[in-house]
Amino acid sequence: MVAKRRPRTLDIFARRKRRGEKLALLTAYDLTSARIAASAGVDAILVGDSLGMVVLGHENTLPVTVDDVLHHSAAVVRARPGVPVIADMPYGSFHLDPALTVESALRLVKEAGVQAVKLEGGRNRAEHIAALLDAEIPVMGHLGLTPQSIHRFGGYKVQGRGGEAARILADEAAFLADAGCFSLVLECIPAPLAQAVSEASPIPTIGIGAGQGCDGQVLVFHDLLGLFDGLAPRFVKRYAELGRDATAAVTNYVDEVRSGTFPGPEHVYDDDKDLGPGMAGYLGGGGKDEPAS
Ligand code: KIV
Repeated sequence: MVAKRRPRTLDIFARRKRRGEKLALLTAYDLTSARIAASAGVDAILVGDSLGMVVLGHENTLPVTVDDVLHHSAAVVRARPGVPVIADMPYGSFHLDPALTVESALRLVKEAGVQAVKLEGGRNRAEHIAALLDAEIPVMGHLGLTPQSIHRFGGYKVQGRGGEAARILADEAAFLADAGCFSLVLECIPAPLAQAVSEASPIPTIGIGAGQGCDGQVLVFHDLLGLFDGLAPRFVKRYAELGRDATAAVTNYVDEVRSGTFPGPEHVYDDDKDLGPGMAGYLGGGGKDEPAS
């Protein structure tokens, strides 16, 4: 059940930063994950391009398309989570003409109904960020181990290590705030660097693998719940083992079908049982079952 409260807007980012209160973000990709995130009280939902790996089965995030993000963002928005929904701009959607970036982002806002977009990079995306803001689309930045850069990085590696790399990252963070981003994800960088960047930053930093000094945290839904075993970075905390529990439940079902225990007497119809509690209204029958035709 989604918590009943006044829908939150992106203002929450600036407000929390001002008050020194942490932001808790989570990714979600569909109705069910969005409802769970909202019921748990997250401050915002990110429809990350991580969906390419945890939902669509790609090896990395590079094949994800605008249509993929649009499809999943629309499902998240249909959950009416009551918190801002931020869509990730997939690889290739903000690397060409800024007009094309705006065209893609406008689809995410108009067709899916998201409130903002996130994109990876810093100064190299200056024109794209400016064009998005000019089109009234709020932008979240993303620095550090940006997964769309894995080929340039030579794999998944901690970023911002060493004086020069740390200085460049801090400089990029300052640039993104000046450019007008409302928030900034810091992924997989040394905790002292993330803390220094966060303290200097006028916009809230959202860490993933960046330590406690950030203004908020984000995790991938499937990682937090133990539903994904593809990658196991140190920064993931598994708060549950739902993958293991789900496999046990499905195994139980398979065994019961084979042994004839399921369906039991309570799962079958005779002459006077209706479809099930609440089902008639759910199907739009005004509280009555539709007559069988
Ligand atoms: O794609 C994603 O889920 C992300 C978050 C991990 C920040 O970019």
